[in-house]
Parts: sequence; structure tokens; C-alpha cells
Amino acid sequence: HFRMVFFYFRLYELSSGAYLAKQYLSNYFITKLATAAVFEFPRRSDAKSNLSKLGQDVNPYLDKFIEEKSLAKSGLKALRWTTLGYHHNWDSREYGSEVGSRGTVPELLKTLAQEISKSFQITPVLNAEASICNYYPANIGTIGIHSDDSEYCYHPIVSVSLGLPAVFLLGQGTRDDPCHEILLEHGDIFIMDGKDRQALHAVPRVLDLDRALKIDENYEKKITAVEDKIVYEYLKQSRINLNIRQVN
Ligand code: OGA
Ligand code: MN
Repeated sequence: HFRMVFFYFRLYELSSGAYLAKQYLSNYFITKLATAAVFEFPRRSDAKSNLSKLGQDVNPYLDKFIEEKSLAKSGLKALRWTTLGYHHNWDSREYGSEVGSRGTVPELLKTLAQEISKSFQITPVLNAEASICNYYPANIGTIGIHSDDSEYCYHPIVSVSLGLPAVFLLGQGTRDDPCHEILLEHGDIFIMDGKDRQALHAVPRVLDLDRALKIDENYEKKITAVEDKIVYEYLKQSRINLNIRQVN
């Protein structure tokens, strides 16, 4: 089942420790991940989302999206993140450790963490204890400059990109220093390791479909391979970032 995760990819490495595996994921695994990210993860009873935090139910948005196929018209663009496993608290930048506050990480993500550990010789094998799923509607979704410093240790962070391409900035020092500008595209895996594990980073922009097609004229063809037509519609309007973390 190694093959189910990836077929062929191009690998880029930074001397500071991060690496980018372009088009690492197979269409089979992409379909599973994207479908779960949109329709399963935010509905799990042990997950938290920006909507559940406000006491809102994600189901009406999902139903409306199935009907309208538009993020704007359905209101589903309001869904911005889901946390799984240890829940990351965005305000305190800590993981909740109170009894009952911790969910389980879905098997799909645990498997992915194991396969990626094998591919990239990550030892010890990454134990997926927390995952943040970010949803970035085209043109409006962003994440500001930050470093991932909430974990209690520095195992590498595995980050999966699905859907529309994003401009990812990876700092090389302080906020005033120059940064790498990296395009993260559908099916890419970005791993923050070594010195880059603690680097400042941000996503200032997610491209819309027109711009995505200018960069990669095959983008629509690539996402057509996503079997679920509703998820395909979602990926024309949004980017999904799934990042997998070991906390302890
Ligand atoms: C994060 C993050 C980056 C991305 O969730 O901490 O930095 O590629 N995400 O969306
Ligand atoms: Mn981050």
C-alpha cells in the first residue's frame, strides 16, 4: 500500500532543513484526504473548528454547498480550520491537555505520517498526535507570519497542500530578513525540519482558479481526478492545508 500514497515526485531540499516533495500524493490518496477534510473532519464529534467554537453547526453550510456548489453562496467560506487530536488553541498558542479536550487523529492521517516518515527517513517515525486542517478560500484566505512553537518538542511538521496554489513564505531569520517564496500546489508535501522547523512562515495569498490556470494549465485536469464532484468544485474555489504534528 506504499503505492497508494504516492507514485512519483520531485524533491527540493533547503540547506536549512525544509524540503518540498512536488506532486507527492497519488490521486487516490488526494481524493481520500480532500473528501475527509471537507466532509468528515469538521463533523467529527471530537474535532473542533472555528465554527464549532462559535457554537455554529457546519452541516447546513455543507448541505448548501452540495446544492449551490459555491463557497460564497453557501456560506461555506466561513469554515477556516478544524483541529484534530490534541486541539491547538489559537489564542494561547498551546495544546489543550485537559481530560476530554483531546480528540483522536484519524487513521488516514496517521497512515500518511507513517508513509512520509518511511519515504523521507524521518526517525523516529512521526507519531501523528495533532493535526490542523486549514481552509483558504481563494483570494481571501491567509495566515499571518508566525512560527510553530506550541509543540513540546521539535519533530518535523508534515504539511499537505490540496487545491488552489498558495504563496508560502519561509523566513530565514527575523521578520526583517529576506525569505524564501515557495509555491505550494495541489498534491505537494512540505516538511519543516532542522533549522526550518522553527522558522517564521506565512501564507499571504491563495490564487483563484484563473490565476492557477495561468501557472498550471493542467490544474483543472489534475483535480478532475478527484472522484467526488462536490469536492472537485470545492478545490476549484479553495486551498486545503493539512498539517500533521507530533506534540510530545
Ligand atoms: C499552520 C501553517 C501553512 C500552510 O497551520 O501553522 O503554517 O501551508 N499552515 O497553510
Ligand atoms: Mn505554521
